[in-house]
Amino acid sequence: MTLLVSGASAVATPRGRGPLAGAGQGAVAVLPGAVVRCEGERIAFVGDAAEHDRRFPPADDVLDARGGTVVPGFVDPHTHLPFAGYREGEFDRRLAGESYAQIAAAGGGIVATVAATRAATEDELVELTLRRLDRQLLHGTTTTEAKSGYGLEREGELKQLRALRATARRHPVEVAATAMPGHEVPPEWRHDGDGYVELVRRDIHPAIAAEGLAEAVDVFCEQGVFSPDQTRRLLADAKRYGWRIHLHADELSPLGGAELAAELGASSASHLLHASDAGIAALAAAGVVAVVLPGVSFFLRERYAPVRRLIEAGVPVALATDCNPGSSHTESMPMIMALACLGAGMRSDETLVAATLNAAAALGRADRLGSLEAGKQADLVVLDAPSAAHLVYHFGVNLVRHVVKAGRVVVRDGRLHDV
Ligand code: NIG
Ligand code: FE
Repeated sequence: MTLLVSGASAVATPRGRGPLAGAGQGAVAVLPGAVVRCEGERIAFVGDAAEHDRRFPPADDVLDARGGTVVPGFVDPHTHLPFAGYREGEFDRRLAGESYAQIAAAGGGIVATVAATRAATEDELVELTLRRLDRQLLHGTTTTEAKSGYGLEREGELKQLRALRATARRHPVEVAATAMPGHEVPPEWRHDGDGYVELVRRDIHPAIAAEGLAEAVDVFCEQGVFSPDQTRRLLADAKRYGWRIHLHADELSPLGGAELAAELGASSASHLLHASDAGIAALAAAGVVAVVLPGVSFFLRERYAPVRRLIEAGVPVALATDCNPGSSHTESMPMIMALACLGAGMRSDETLVAATLNAAAALGRADRLGSLEAGKQADLVVLDAPSAAHLVYHFGVNLVRHVVKAGRVVVRDGRLHDV
């Protein structure tokens, strides 16, 4: 099966098989009038239409990109997708002045979602997650990371991860599953965090590994959650299973999370609002991708991550939704890109790299995903816009016209197609 994406005003894409940093963070190639040829799951050609017609036979199918812009499918490298229950009541409480921490201390927050998720069946989690993947796809996301972490006991974590696996088998969005029993200390272990860390190592990690349910692990390293020492113990254990390492680091306080991510060879460190200069230098030296989550800053009305310092220090920056019911309830990467510009001072080209190639690198997939180049997987988005800058400049609306995943049209004219 061959597919030709033609008629676009431009193709806009980063290039390469690894993350881009520093000046490279904004390196987007813009090819006016270019076409993209997909053969099977792969891209066979990106470039001049006349050259294509000389070199290749006509394609089986043509996707009309007239007047639009073609960009790589977005990769969302940090979400908490398989959750049950919503916390919209916390929204107005925060507007009335209560803080996220106060609400959590009063029985809301993560623990409320843990209770709802523990009470849900695996089938219910599958249905909820499928709808979220639909919304991601409609907004141009073709690959997403997704974490457990609302079970916080063996069966609950397994249920979330099994639901993810079942969901992934039924949906075109590619899912990178991350085990996160280290998301919070569950209520029943509140007074014995070390005991819970031991339980994770002895009982929960081995059960997840035995079913092959995760490819990575994540820990919330934060005051009152997991200390750097507990985080180190959890992640050292996770390494035994060959899982990639992610970290929620320096979100609410400067705890040395960035330094720890570098020390442990993490593929990504998220949040980083309070990362120290030494931590940022360590991330750059170790090649850790910084996953910035401006949706959280916007939603909780807090400060934004120091994106300019990260870029100037040579840390590759990726963007993610952090889609979860408490601190950032959105599936839209374009919304996140706009917030990264208007809240954190990123440039539009930098956000496109952050939402594609660098995000793919955070998930260990930059060799296959994240850019439009011959040989890469054919994951692309046709925007109803004359340039990629409209993704952030024309904010709060969905500009996605078509989406192609692995060479197959899965969104056509703004609607799910054959999904
Ligand atoms: O990534 N930082 C910790 N965890 C989530 C919030 C989860 C929740 O509030 O349910 C986050 O922001
Ligand atoms: Fe998160």
